[in-house]
Amino acid sequence: MTVKRSVVRGVGGYLPQRVVTNQEISGLVETSDKWIVQRTGIRERHVAAKGETTSDLGIAAARAALKNANLEADAVDLIVLATSTPDQTFPATAVTIQAELGITRGAAFDVQAVCSGFVYAIATADKYLRDGDFRCALVIGAETFSRILDWTDRSTCVLFGDGAGAVVLEAIEQPGTREDRGVLTTKLRSDGRYRSKLYVDGGPSSTQTVGHLRMEGREVFRYAISMVTDVIDAAFSATGYGPNDIDWFVPHQANKRIIDGSAHKLGIAPQKVVTTVDRHANTSAASIPLALAEAVEDGRIRPGHLVLIEAMGGGFTWASALIRW
Ligand code: ACO
Repeated sequence: MTVKRSVVRGVGGYLPQRVVTNQEISGLVETSDKWIVQRTGIRERHVAAKGETTSDLGIAAARAALKNANLEADAVDLIVLATSTPDQTFPATAVTIQAELGITRGAAFDVQAVCSGFVYAIATADKYLRDGDFRCALVIGAETFSRILDWTDRSTCVLFGDGAGAVVLEAIEQPGTREDRGVLTTKLRSDGRYRSKLYVDGGPSSTQTVGHLRMEGREVFRYAISMVTDVIDAAFSATGYGPNDIDWFVPHQANKRIIDGSAHKLGIAPQKVVTTVDRHANTSAASIPLALAEAVEDGRIRPGHLVLIEAMGGGFTWASALIRW
């Protein structure tokens, strides 16, 4: 019996032009290229220009993904945008992207799960596509974290960057086997008891300000690897696949030590890990689709490959998905 799956038709990314090196940041706060590289693997990040918004980044990534999919924007009837840095408190930044792409049907909304947002957005779109509510979805992660950083706080400002990535998913009937193309499983988790370990100290209802990112970095680090591996084990259990079956591991790009530690704990070979954190830093919900776009463009990820994505972030939230390309 055939089953409907959300199959990846295309992927695209966009990075703002301006590159900020560790050297440049060491002119703002007391830090060094050596410290940042040793602790995080980050060498540089992209930062949005004055006036360049999250929707601008998301639109550029969406256009790149549609081009890669060989589809026109009017094929899309669902937009799910993962972001923690919306253009405005409301409306959802997704509807700005919808309007700029000239799409007047279907639905567009934002999903907020911080760095896990893209995996949450994939899971959300996948459910709607498989249920038959919509046929073709743009799933976007877009962020301008530079706007919510405290540029005097060296413990956070060195870690983040701006960018956007997008994936086009289409509902397509598949044979209903393990070899099916498309999203095979998604696993989402959160535990709000940890919400004060990584948060923004402002918001419309509390302070009426935008606020700045605050983080207990060591605490986040302490939980990251076990949470990530927990949710990946759940994806393996649900599908019967294991570490050796994975062609590409595309983790959220927060810190090279977390990425390497997770791959090592899971038994995933280092050459299967896609890493962009050195050049992009942590772009929150944008980091996974940006890494996917890079690995598709340079020919690493190809149709038929089994791709594992995962993320962990504020909330805490954490999530994984297994996708056959
Ligand atoms: N440059 C130089 N020194 C610094 C800097 C900096 N940029 N930042 C902190 N330090 C100092 C601290 O002040 C401290 O000094 P002290 O010993 O004199 O007090 C020392 O370095 C050690 O600080 P720690 O915070 O213990 O350093 P740690 O080794 O834990 O590294 C880091 C910090 C990189 C933030 C690490 O904890 C980490 O990566 N945590 C995970 C953070 C993360 O990935 N967050 C995002 C995930 S969720 C999401 O994506 C939103």
